[in-house]
Amino acid sequence: MSTAPLRPVQRAAPAQDAAAPAETVEVSLADRSYPIVIGRGVSTDSALIGSHLKPGRAALVTSEVVGALYLAPVSAALVAAGIEAVPIVLPDGEQHKNWQVLNTVFDHLIAHRCDRRTPVIALGGGVIGDMAGFAAATWQRGVPFVQIPTTLLAQVDSSVGGKTAINHPQGKNMIGAFHQPGLVLADTALLDTLPDRELSAGLAEVIKYGLIRDTAFLDWLEPNLPKLLARDPAALAHAIRRSCEHKAEVVAADEREAGLRETLNLGHTFGHAIETGVGYGEWLHGEAVAAGTVLAAEMSARLGWLSESDVGRVRRLFSLAQLPVEAPAMPAARWLDLMGHDKKVRGGRIRLVLLQGLGHAVTTGDYDPAALAATLAGSATRG
Ligand code: NAD
Ligand code: GLY
Repeated sequence: MSTAPLRPVQRAAPAQDAAAPAETVEVSLADRSYPIVIGRGVSTDSALIGSHLKPGRAALVTSEVVGALYLAPVSAALVAAGIEAVPIVLPDGEQHKNWQVLNTVFDHLIAHRCDRRTPVIALGGGVIGDMAGFAAATWQRGVPFVQIPTTLLAQVDSSVGGKTAINHPQGKNMIGAFHQPGLVLADTALLDTLPDRELSAGLAEVIKYGLIRDTAFLDWLEPNLPKLLARDPAALAHAIRRSCEHKAEVVAADEREAGLRETLNLGHTFGHAIETGVGYGEWLHGEAVAAGTVLAAEMSARLGWLSESDVGRVRRLFSLAQLPVEAPAMPAARWLDLMGHDKKVRGGRIRLVLLQGLGHAVTTGDYDPAALAATLAGSATRG
């Protein structure tokens, strides 16, 4: 994939909107409902934290990279709210989203005598959120969980909705649990240090919401992608809020993915196959989703559900977001083997999220296998 650097970047904080008020999107799940608070500085707002968490202790799970940047200020805010943070710092990256590293979280929780009331707080991107969340879901059969997402991808998608997981060497997110957070603090100031390549990866999931359920959002995104890449605060805040509104609505309607929630996986069956096939951490998740979504769009066109001009629009959107639109070359048998591990597979049949027009996604295993074979063959010859 791209060789763009993935080191944190030093960038002056935008002067504009520093005082813009935080916004809240509610995830409505009866007595497990929770707020997503979006705004600059919310992760270090001790009054806000104190209004949601009781004084005591909390396990603060982060990565080496994010911890170096944000462990100190977030710990200080927790202390100011009467909460002592037990830091748990994990190696950074998708290649570490596994049993071995997860087990080190449990080692810390037991060493520090964290009990059933000790919340686990995830401070990081989707990898840390998924692993800390799985630890929270399983430690002593489940403890309170808080998400402080630090990537765009985590702020618009992975921190919301309660999916937690680790990878199996042969399949992404194969081992996990549903465990909702009680609070999500999406601090847009944390994105100031996010590498450009990671920002683009997050935009893949933003574009996804438009493609599956909101053509008006797509119409807004197309001219605003340059502003988002330039980290325009107002544009970013709008994209994050709109994405969280979509995620919250879908999760409230179908928490356990019995139907509607599957559509959030547009491009993911292809994308997870790319991630696993090339080796975890080579392609970023968002990059794999972008190239995977182009394949889903091409397959939709083969089935007569999407026009060629719409496929062109899908490609253009991801290209504008500086994301890959060509999947890596893999033999069709390898694609099918990897895709056969997808969690949407039923009775051996690979079910795919496809587009019946822009803004309308369906999940189906009822397609001509030749269309899938031709789509994969097309990608193999192009790659
Ligand atoms: P990531 O967690 O690996 O973070 C990306 C990189 O950015 C890391 O190197 C990290 O250290 C760095 N980083 C994070 N925040 C930073 C900051 N503020 N400044 C500088 N650097 C920072 O990747 P991701 O894209 O956030 O998440 C991808 C993962 O999320 C995948 O494992 C995917 O399966 C998962 N995911 C889960 C869900 C869900 O619903 N649970 C949804 C989508 C994706
Ligand atoms: N990211 C897909 C989901 O949360 O369902």
